[in-house]
Amino acid sequence: MKKLCAAWLLLACVLVGASREPVRAHKAMVVTHEDHATQAGLRVLEQGGNAIDAAVAVGFALAVTHPAAGNIGGGGFMLVRLADGRSTFIDFRELAPGKATPAMYLDGAGNATADRLFGYRASGVPGTVRGLEYASKKYGRRTWADLLAPAIELAKNGFPVSYDLANSLRSSEALARNVESRRIFQRNGKYFEPGEILVQPELAATLERISKFGSRDFYAGETARRLAADMARHGGLIGLQDLQQYQVVERRPLEGSYRGYQILTAPPPSSGGAGLIQMLNMLDGSGYEKAGAGSAATIHYIAEVMRRFFADRSKYFGDPDFVKIPLKELLSRHYAEERRRSIDPERATASAQLGPGDLHGYESGETTHYSILDAEGNAVAVTYTLNARFGSGVTAAGLGFLLNNEMDDFTAKPGVPNMFGLLQGEANAIAPHKRPLSAMTPTIITRDGKPFLILGSPGGPTIISTVLLVTLNVIDFGMDVQQAVDWPRFHHQWMPDELRLEESGFSPDTVELLRRRGHTLRISGYQGDVAAIECKDGWILGAPDSRTEATARGY
Ligand code: DON
Repeated sequence: MKKLCAAWLLLACVLVGASREPVRAHKAMVVTHEDHATQAGLRVLEQGGNAIDAAVAVGFALAVTHPAAGNIGGGGFMLVRLADGRSTFIDFRELAPGKATPAMYLDGAGNATADRLFGYRASGVPGTVRGLEYASKKYGRRTWADLLAPAIELAKNGFPVSYDLANSLRSSEALARNVESRRIFQRNGKYFEPGEILVQPELAATLERISKFGSRDFYAGETARRLAADMARHGGLIGLQDLQQYQVVERRPLEGSYRGYQILTAPPPSSGGAGLIQMLNMLDGSGYEKAGAGSAATIHYIAEVMRRFFADRSKYFGDPDFVKIPLKELLSRHYAEERRRSIDPERATASAQLGPGDLHGYESGETTHYSILDAEGNAVAVTYTLNARFGSGVTAAGLGFLLNNEMDDFTAKPGVPNMFGLLQGEANAIAPHKRPLSAMTPTIITRDGKPFLILGSPGGPTIISTVLLVTLNVIDFGMDVQQAVDWPRFHHQWMPDELRLEESGFSPDTVELLRRRGHTLRISGYQGDVAAIECKDGWILGAPDSRTEATARGY
């Protein structure tokens, strides 16, 4: 038996480059984590809605069918590139409540406390409902009620629980800790089996109010009042005033270029877009790709680039409305060249010896990304989240939706890692009404003024690495988008000083060569869940990640 397993493992390693065909279409494409949501988005497009309409409908549908990350109790980012070339970034990231303080997650002895992760005190003020409404009003054309209808139907009539969803509902400790979550999502221990129908009447009622009264219901109406009351009862900080004051910020996307492609990506308060551009800058002109995809030399070089960006991230990044981020310097080619000079192609640099540049255990998490391209050429990339899987685990009483634990994305204490093992600095300290630093990296890459690649992923800090790797696989290694998405992934985030490798996909001799170059290796489970679209040879190719139950549909 053992022998058989070993043989199988070897076979799996050998076959790793193989990948299925992407989903092909000529006009439009929707790629999301979950098929009911994918279908909801596609229907909107088929009925004449644009990509922004579809993105709003998918956002609400995922809040029903993918409760681990899809949400109305969290926040995120929507990157839009319109067919006429205009682009925008809708920031609906959560905000620290007005009563938040820098030391709110430190106990008497100065140790970071668990309430930044679980329960009512872990949540930032949710931005999703206002963000989706903002997008719909400014860039969409379908009625608000039309866009909420699929989600309401899915919540009211239910949908069959998938294998992955059944597993994640059953295994969630966050859900088990909260009476309301345990009742709704774990049926008080009578766990959902795959194929059973999950009906969410409280969520349906909340969505119906949002459909009828708009985001006003969520931020100033009945939902707001009930959420604030529930918070007050349980020591949470989010008050009615926090909800009333929540505002979306529309920002300019970050722009970069790489080998003739234009990169449009997430600006701060995400560190992701800056990371992507900085890493591409370091790689450009290095010749790293000559060693070939998947070779130890290539993996090593990219890991060193990741290490250098994440060192910078720990120091320089925070909410741009609160701190000045030296973006111009960080994204300059000159700086990238200087940083690159310290890379030894044969030897890992010890992170302890590498600080942020001079400028003159992880808990499991879940976020979700979806990508949409409509028939007119409008492209949308959305990454939104509750942070950890099922967020804080709290379902607001009677409202049926889970709340985020995004406060853990702040620096609870400099030098103390957050749930993703990230070390963060003063720039990302907690302050009232501040946005926690994010790694979410919705990205749209164009060539000759046309959408070429639309992508993003969940995965906390690994998001940035994942988006980088898929981009390199397509641009530098000539893979089609599905291959690029399915290809094995790795991640380095400076601290802890370890190179994380997905457990299947790296040959034993590659692993050994990396070890010999001085890397401390950590074998991990799947990294990310990319939803990508590529425009190629007159086709629109949809690439859902083979690691999950994600789907793509087009027409
Ligand atoms: O904004 C961020 O960077 C995190 N809150 C994202 C969390 C995440 O991706 C968890 N997913 N796997």
